[in-house]
Amino acid sequence: MSKIPFITFPTGQSVPQFGLGTWELTGDACRRSVADALAMGYKHIDTAVGYSNHTDVAVGIKDSGVARDSFFLTTKIPPSKLARSQVIEVGKTSVKELGVEYVDLLLIHWPTRKVPLEETIGAMNELVKSGITRAIGVSNFNQDLVTEACRLSDAPICTNQVEYHPYLNQTELLKTCTDLGVVITAYSPLTRGKVFSDDTLKAIAIKHKTTVSQVVIAWLISKGIIVIPKASGKAHLEDNLAGVSLQLDVDDVTTIENIPETIRLVDGSWVEYPF
Ligand SMILES: NC(=O)c1ccc[n+]([C@@H]2O[C@H](COP(=O)([O-])OP(=O)(O)OC[C@H]3O[C@@H](n4cnc5c(N)ncnc54)[C@H](OP(=O)(O)O)[C@@H]3O)[C@@H](O)[C@H]2O)c1
Repeated sequence: MSKIPFITFPTGQSVPQFGLGTWELTGDACRRSVADALAMGYKHIDTAVGYSNHTDVAVGIKDSGVARDSFFLTTKIPPSKLARSQVIEVGKTSVKELGVEYVDLLLIHWPTRKVPLEETIGAMNELVKSGITRAIGVSNFNQDLVTEACRLSDAPICTNQVEYHPYLNQTELLKTCTDLGVVITAYSPLTRGKVFSDDTLKAIAIKHKTTVSQVVIAWLISKGIIVIPKASGKAHLEDNLAGVSLQLDVDDVTTIENIPETIRLVDGSWVEYPF
């Protein structure tokens, strides 16, 4: 059985470094993926208000029969709901929809200039104090903004969830976050499928008699990053989970680090802050 590594947040929480992403998973597909994932040993589920799947995630959790304290649950506040009263409301509504008493991690999904960051961070700190969330973090924050979020918050900013994969190796952002004590969480780690036809990654996968998906997951984990691929169907879920046990050689890591191609799938052109 695959042994998922854990990383420690500044809050002291032990966080599974591998989880299931649920963007675009709704209805029965979402319920099944969440239930199957938890039943096969996943310990971390990533959702968001914006994915409109909280109630499906809740059913998947219930169907899995897995106890609440055995998995880590993240959700995110949309950029349209970042005023203080909205943040408090979203926190309370989210736990109800998810059928839980608390979430482990609550993120600002995207930054906005419409509400002062201090106001949003202050409200998120209130949700930590009231027990709605155990930790807080951000998503899609550039280096300046994540630094500012850390300065403004009493509770630690535990993660910055950003696009991160072999075609977007955000070395400078990773360094800034590491210096701040902020763990990077990699979204779209499998580039929504683009990596599967990459000859360099295929060669590493063949060498280890494994899949490209596992190679990418193992690479991200080796960098101290949390990785949350989305998958539906037991075959993909199992393939990805096995990636946590793959040990890459030093030269494999160097090869992946040196992939020259740059692709940003989520350009954030609809938000006010540039990456
Ligand atoms: N914070 C943000 O702004 C943000 C933005 C984007 C994503 N995210 C989060 O990150 C998660 C992951 O990112 P993503 O969904 O964009 O993309 P991704 O995880 O890079 O790729 C998902 C795609 O890869 C396929 N796949 C998964 N495992 C596979 C395998 N072993 N072999 C072949 N194909 C496989 C999936 O197909 P099947 O479904 O058929 O398995 C799906 O089409 C999201 O679900 C979401 O939770 C956050």
